[in-house]
Amino acid sequence: MSDQLTIALTKGRILRETLPLLASAGIVPLDDVSTSRKLVFDTSNPGVRLVIIRGSDVPTYVRHGVADMGVVGKDILLEHGAEGLYEPLDLGIARCRLMTAGPVGWSGSGGRIRVATKFVNIARRHFAMQGVHADVIKLYGAMELAPIMNLADLIVDIVDTGNTLRANGMEPLEEIAAISSRLVVNKAAMRSRYAIIQQVINDLTAVVPRES
Ligand code: PRP
Repeated sequence: MSDQLTIALTKGRILRETLPLLASAGIVPLDDVSTSRKLVFDTSNPGVRLVIIRGSDVPTYVRHGVADMGVVGKDILLEHGAEGLYEPLDLGIARCRLMTAGPVGWSGSGGRIRVATKFVNIARRHFAMQGVHADVIKLYGAMELAPIMNLADLIVDIVDTGNTLRANGMEPLEEIAAISSRLVVNKAAMRSRYAIIQQVINDLTAVVPRES
């Protein structure tokens, strides 16, 4: 096992917004993460390395303790659970909303509804809390296509600008959760490697943009 502190990062937009925060905390990958095919990166801090993976895999690596910390969207934590993890810091980046959405003018069917989403657990909880009978259909992307093709009545998806919904004749309906990226820490590592982990938390806390 590496003595280095290992931080698991979510690739994509979250990574692009995470790197400047890490740089402010003195952690800069030694290779260009946007062009390299590597998955593990040493950094300007010899005690810290980064692994760059899909968001839905970040909680798994941190929960198993092979990564000490991670950066992941709150949507992933809500969908897959945060068991075994501390969530000490809202990084305030990659902000968006998790919403239900439907075709413009959709007013409900009165009975069961069909909901397409990749967030099946969140969707089931949401509609169960409302007492709505929802058949939840798992998709892996392009949720907006499902109502167009009459695979589903509604979707549960991430909404940022709303452009994707508008471009597909849909509108947002209800907000389920405000989403941003969170720092997560393995609970055992928080005890066994307290000093370095707390240092990273403190350094990131100092550079996180405050809520406006
Ligand atoms: C997300 C989401 C929507 C879109 C919303 O997809 O699933 O399709 O962004 O953004 P907007 O409101 O600004 O149009 P993303 O591009 O992240 O790809 P994904 O389907 O892989 O999650």
